[in-house]
Amino acid sequence: MELDLTGKTAVVTGGSRGIGRAIALGFAKAGANVVPLSRTESAVENVVESVRERGVESRVETVDVADSDAVEACFGRVDDDLGIDIVVNNAGINPDAALGTPESVSDEGFEQVMDVNLQGAFACARAAESSLKASNGTLLNVASVGGLVGLPRQHPYVASKHGLVGLTKSLALDWAPDVRVNCLAPGYVATELTTELQENEKLRRSIEERTPLDRFAEPEEVAGPAVFLASDLATYATGATLAVDGGWTAR
Ligand SMILES: NC(=O)c1ccc[n+]([C@@H]2O[C@H](COP(=O)([O-])OP(=O)(O)OC[C@H]3O[C@@H](n4cnc5c(N)ncnc54)[C@H](OP(=O)(O)O)[C@@H]3O)[C@@H](O)[C@H]2O)c1
Repeated sequence: MELDLTGKTAVVTGGSRGIGRAIALGFAKAGANVVPLSRTESAVENVVESVRERGVESRVETVDVADSDAVEACFGRVDDDLGIDIVVNNAGINPDAALGTPESVSDEGFEQVMDVNLQGAFACARAAESSLKASNGTLLNVASVGGLVGLPRQHPYVASKHGLVGLTKSLALDWAPDVRVNCLAPGYVATELTTELQENEKLRRSIEERTPLDRFAEPEEVAGPAVFLASDLATYATGATLAVDGGWTAR
């Protein structure tokens, strides 16, 4: 029963900022080597530096998770260099083009969200399959409360996150007993993704009032459960989705 991740290597998509960065640093603090991935090299470099300051290995890699050939190549390089024990599918988007009533959402907006949030996660899972099976590793998907309940005017996002909860279950069945697959469903977290909501007093208050804990989460409050689910404290958990939502889905 250990929370120690020493000697393991974790790949965290969307690891350059926000929740992914906090998860990357949480894993590094628990002793794991960490490779944070995003499309932006300078942002990845900053996190790699912070990871290395914790005395573990890292490497700079950039990838667009919507490009499955690039994902395949990237995971291959990481596996050759460090091996892969833990994968966190955290990269996610919810762009303006995908918000609003169904008639205001274009096919392109819908596809963009699906390509990153759902197909991107599937591409990473597929690219990591042989490494995770070889290492008896674990996969963690970062969904959302929008993967458990509806959120008005966020149809592509909610569809993608419900898909991710389903993908968690089907991968958990397929990969058992070698690889555990779990999912986190965060509520509202103070990151760049929610900047507009945080800055709009009326919207912010309505979200806080709807949240029993009456506030947004800090990214580190999602990182803790991520480290737990990836660790040997959670060896009997697979196919599960853990809400980390300040009570949002308890209502
Ligand atoms: N913040 C919240 O309230 C909240 C709540 C529930 C769930 N979540 C989920 O948590 C995850 C992280 O959210 P966050 O709030 O930390 O978002 P964020 O601050 O916007 O960070 C998103 C991360 O994903 C990366 N990314 C975006 N598109 C990518 C792509 N095509 N390929 C590779 N990387 C990509 C970004 O880097 P680049 O742009 O440089 O590629 C960045 O590192 C998302 O899946 C989100 O849906 C967030």
